[in-house]
Amino acid sequence: MSQDPLSRTTPRAGPPAPGAGMPPPDAAGQARSDALLAHIQARIAVAGGWISFADYMQMALYEPGLGYYDARGNKFGAQGDFVTAPEISPLFAQALAAPVARAFGTLPAQVLEFGAGTGALAHDLLHDLERRGCPAEQYWIVEVSADLRARQQERLAAYPVRWLDHLPADFGGVVIANEVLDVLPVQLFVRGAADVQERGVAADGGALRFAGRAAGPDLCHSMSAIESAAGALPPGYGSELCPLADAWIAAIAACLRRGLVLLLDYGFPRHEYYHPQRAMGTLMCHYRQHAHAEPLWLPGLNDITAHVDFTAVAQSARAAGLDLLGYTSQAHFLMNCGILDRLVARHGSVPEAATTGALQRLLSEAEMGELVKVMALGRGLDEGGWGFDRGDRRHRL
Ligand SMILES: C[S@@+](CC[C@H](N)C(=O)[O-])C[C@H]1O[C@@H](n2cnc3c(N)ncnc32)[C@H](O)[C@@H]1O
Repeated sequence: MSQDPLSRTTPRAGPPAPGAGMPPPDAAGQARSDALLAHIQARIAVAGGWISFADYMQMALYEPGLGYYDARGNKFGAQGDFVTAPEISPLFAQALAAPVARAFGTLPAQVLEFGAGTGALAHDLLHDLERRGCPAEQYWIVEVSADLRARQQERLAAYPVRWLDHLPADFGGVVIANEVLDVLPVQLFVRGAADVQERGVAADGGALRFAGRAAGPDLCHSMSAIESAAGALPPGYGSELCPLADAWIAAIAACLRRGLVLLLDYGFPRHEYYHPQRAMGTLMCHYRQHAHAEPLWLPGLNDITAHVDFTAVAQSARAAGLDLLGYTSQAHFLMNCGILDRLVARHGSVPEAATTGALQRLLSEAEMGELVKVMALGRGLDEGGWGFDRGDRRHRL
């Protein structure tokens, strides 16, 4: 029986050792990974023998022409490494269109999407906004990957889409980012009995290995904030944190004159993220429909992700002057946005099995329905009606 493509961060039977039962890369893939490895080793040498994991992740995912997202290749869907919600069904974008259309009632009819992948969300969202009689006048995409940008340009040629190299100075409209925060580079830490170690990357002969060093003052400060929210972490506890997310939220806030920001990603509130039982953190890799936990294996050929600390995102947003308008699970959000009405309108009351299966993946508690959360931030907007009317969990952050 064929299986559905793997969503990110959902290993089917626990993360296996890398390589075990996984197809080897083809010659071109191996050569690209070898070239990236040489770059990383050179960088480690220049840095004196050690780089932070965030620096490693930045290179592994985004090194021009070699990193996972920047290099050519099929990352998404059954032929790729993992699948995302917009790739599962157009119903996802059709539901998301409800708060976007509502926002267009009071905001400029513009969308700014970060990290648009194959362009599936933009395509289906633009289509559904037209169907609702409130088309987007302009759709902007900020995409760091040259390869994905080219694919988006091909797919969205018929739509009013433009690509930006920098954030606009002054934006009014709706900002969307689906599964972008979880691919921002993270720092790794390990709690010691009396200190904190930062886990970075060193090189031994031809191979990369993890290496620890005493955490600097910023990491120690972040650890204190984590432990005051989640409780003291036991010695040996390892996890990650994402200081870049704070800068990313601040940059969005700085350019947003008036608007709605919808962030959808795998993640939890802080006290769940740094739960004593989650002692290995949330870092996860995806390679050809296999999930594993070894990010140093075949650099450039694996997606690397970490869940999002939504408490940290909410704090960053408030500090940057944005309002927190809602926080809930993907299932609650999509239901509040009328996904079941769209299902019946498009497919009748007895949809075919493939559509029911897709809906199940988007809404199921064991999959994206609960693991993915949706956060709405805003400036100059009313409180309600953005997809959080039932099941709002802001009080848990
Ligand atoms: C996991 S994919 C998600 C793609 C798409 N949003 C989806 O749901 O199918 C992550 C996307 O974010 C892009 N990306 C990563 N960091 C980014 C950043 N700082 N700004 C804009 N795009 C970014 C990647 O190149 C890729 O397109």
